[in-house]
Amino acid sequence: MNYRHAFHAGNFADVLKHAVLAQCFAHLKKKDKPFRYIDSHAGIGAYDLTSSEAQRNPEWEGGIAKVMASAKPADVAEALAPLLQAVTAMNPDGLKDYPGSPEIAARLLRPTDRIQLCELHPADAKTLDNRYKRDARVKVEARDGYKALPGLVPPREKRGVVLIDPPFEHRDEMAHMAEAVRAALPKWPNGTWIFWRPLKDLWASERFDVGLAEWLFEEELATPEKLLRADLWVRDIESEGKLAGAGIVVVNPPYTLEGQLLALLPWLAETLAQGEGAGWRLDGCATDESLSVEEF
Ligand SMILES: C[S@@+](CC[C@H](N)C(=O)[O-])C[C@H]1O[C@@H](n2cnc3c(N)ncnc32)[C@H](O)[C@@H]1O
Repeated sequence: MNYRHAFHAGNFADVLKHAVLAQCFAHLKKKDKPFRYIDSHAGIGAYDLTSSEAQRNPEWEGGIAKVMASAKPADVAEALAPLLQAVTAMNPDGLKDYPGSPEIAARLLRPTDRIQLCELHPADAKTLDNRYKRDARVKVEARDGYKALPGLVPPREKRGVVLIDPPFEHRDEMAHMAEAVRAALPKWPNGTWIFWRPLKDLWASERFDVGLAEWLFEEELATPEKLLRADLWVRDIESEGKLAGAGIVVVNPPYTLEGQLLALLPWLAETLAQGEGAGWRLDGCATDESLSVEEF
C-alpha cells in the first residue's frame, strides 16, 4: 500500500468528488432526521497543503486554489457552496489545509448524524483515529473497507451516503469495487452510493459503469433515473502518467444534483483546464449491449 493521498489532496478530481459529497450532505440535512456517512477508504481526514508531499507537485494549486480564486456565476457558487463552507471553515486565514472526505463530513454533519470510517493503512488509520477520537459522532476502523461494507449497511438511521474511493494502485481495483458493491448494495438499495474512479483505462471504467447500471436494473435495485455519472478531464485523457480525468457514479443522487452538476462541470472544465482537450460528461451510464452483466 504505497498510495498517499497527501500528494493529490485538493486536485481537480477531489474538487468534483467532494463537491458532490458535500451536496449529498446538504440535501440530507434538509430533513431533521439523522443520517449516517460511511467512507470505505477514508484516508487521513485532512491534508496540510504546506507539507512536503503537497508541495512536491502541488496538484491543489490547479484544483481547489484555482476554484477558490476564480469568479463564479451564481449557479456554480451554489453547487460549490457546501464544499467551500467546509474548506473556508478550516482555513480562516487563507488556504493552508484541505479537508478530505472525513473532515468534510465532520464539518458539515450535525451532532445527531454519524460518521463511519474505514482505512486499511495502519499508520493512516492511527492518524485518522487520533484526529476524531474526541468526536462522539465518528467511528474509525482500521480494516478493509470492501470487506467491512456488507456489515455496515443498512445503518440504523436508514438514511445516508456511502463513499467508495479506492486508491486504484492495482489493476484489478475496479473488479474489487464491483465485488464489494454486489455484496453490499442489495442490503441497502435506498442509500446514496458514490463510486469514484479514474479515467485512465477507459475500457475498464466504462465496463464498471455500464456493468453497474445493467446489474442494478437487472436486479431491480435501481431504475435509470436513479443513476448519475459525472466526469471531468482537464486535458486529453492518457492511459499512463499523471491523472487527466476522473469522475463519480452516484446511485440515488439527490434530485437537485443533476442541475447543480450541469452548471458546475462546464465551469470546472474551463477553469481547471491544463491544456488541449479538457471536457466533461454528465449522463446516466447508458447501457451498452456489447457489455454483459456477467462482466460486472
Ligand atoms: C483516495 S484515498 C481516500 C481519500 C478520501 N476518501 C478523501 O476523499 O479524502 C484512498 C485511501 O484508501 C486506503 N485504502 C487502500 N485500500 C483500502 C481498503 N481495502 N480498505 C480501506 N482503505 C483502503 C488508502 O490507504 C488511502 O488512504
